[in-house]
Amino acid sequence: MNKPEAISVAAQAQAMIIPVEAFVSKDYARAEADKLWRKVWLQAGRIEDIPESGNYITYEIGDDSVLILRKQDGAIAAYRNVCTHRGRRLVDTPKGQRNARGSAPRFTCGFHAWTFELDGTASYIERPEEWGGALCDEVTRLGGVKVDTWGGFVWINLDPEAGPLREFLEPAATTLDPFRLQDMRPRWRYWTQFECNWKVALEAFNETYHVAGTHPEMMAFGEYVGWGQRQGLHSNIGYDAADGVEENKSKLRLGAGDPRTSTAEMQKYIWDGVNTNTTKTLVDVAQRLPTELPEGTPPGEVVRHWLETAKKEDAARGVVWPEIDPSHVAASGTAWQIFPNQQIGHAVNNMLCYQARPVDADPDRCYFEVAVYQLWADGEAPETEWTYLAPDDFPHILRQDFSNMAAVQKGMKMAGYPGNIPNPKNEGAVISLHQSLAAYMGTGAPIPLATPVKGAGA
Ligand code: FES
Ligand SMILES: [Fe+2]
Repeated sequence: MNKPEAISVAAQAQAMIIPVEAFVSKDYARAEADKLWRKVWLQAGRIEDIPESGNYITYEIGDDSVLILRKQDGAIAAYRNVCTHRGRRLVDTPKGQRNARGSAPRFTCGFHAWTFELDGTASYIERPEEWGGALCDEVTRLGGVKVDTWGGFVWINLDPEAGPLREFLEPAATTLDPFRLQDMRPRWRYWTQFECNWKVALEAFNETYHVAGTHPEMMAFGEYVGWGQRQGLHSNIGYDAADGVEENKSKLRLGAGDPRTSTAEMQKYIWDGVNTNTTKTLVDVAQRLPTELPEGTPPGEVVRHWLETAKKEDAARGVVWPEIDPSHVAASGTAWQIFPNQQIGHAVNNMLCYQARPVDADPDRCYFEVAVYQLWADGEAPETEWTYLAPDDFPHILRQDFSNMAAVQKGMKMAGYPGNIPNPKNEGAVISLHQSLAAYMGTGAPIPLATPVKGAGA
């Protein structure tokens, strides 16, 4: 059994006001390119998308595009996706797609046919002698980009001086390692665009304070009293739960009232309504709780029976959940916000991931991505691709979340609006994001709410 390090629990954040500059300022959005996106490790894809030599994907962030591929020796490499001759983008993203993905033994530029091998060297240049001997490998090879892997994800960093990925990710990496995210494969993955800042999109998912207001029908199934706390550059969120029901602090949790029937109903509602953070096995086993367990079974026993039965039934068909101490599952919470722009909603057999990126350097537009991963039996994982879905075509629970995006972006621009005042307990991850952002951007730090803010109440 994995016995990870204890997770340090940060003190609850103090009440803060977050200036709106980071959401609405064009100058701030432009500055993000150099100060943020070109400095941090960014989750750029999944390892399983490039299993064989010659397989490649691209990742785009602002003006930058990175070509990520599997070399002949099996290692993953990342290059600036630009031809070293006269700057043509080497691999184009097909119109309407999120990124390029394919397989090629080498890459030929569409402009003057310079050709690059998987190791980045230029292997064909027309009439190189006409440069008078000035062309050497150092000048012609593709520019390297730092690349590493963790959790089954490929991460890139555009800063040649960047420190190690692992260091950047802690304490998230050590906390999430036991969940073996690298063994999961997507059930589906969609991307879309919103008329809001990328932070507005992410912040709609890093707290449960919005459930009563945005998803009122979900209040019938459970309580959504939670916390969010800073963890290094990152943060995590989770639910409060009674002592002795550690399992109920996790992503896979019981419904309120009679937990046998409400869990059955909640699981069915999630599966049919949004198809996110559960699996078919968990849903099926939950449907049997009211018949398999007598009325009045204590919640702790219901959740244990549910998870143990699902785990056994999965194991019987070759889907083996990792063994993780329930106290670690509880302390890890329900989701991690990996600075700056990814959220991993982790569970022992599935994860729900969100990511957001700006469209160009426009503070008012972003790309938003949702992917659900789970453990599969050998050969059962479906072939998936990033698929565009218009916001209105998403399942209705997500549409409820999406309905706030542009409205928040508009609202924050109102003259005299002093800034956001997140709930320091439940929305601690919102405060944490802006603390980390301010460290990179040099501006926009949350201000203790007790300090009078210029313009407040004006
Ligand atoms: S720009 Fe690529 S070959 Fe000329
Ligand atoms: Fe929501």
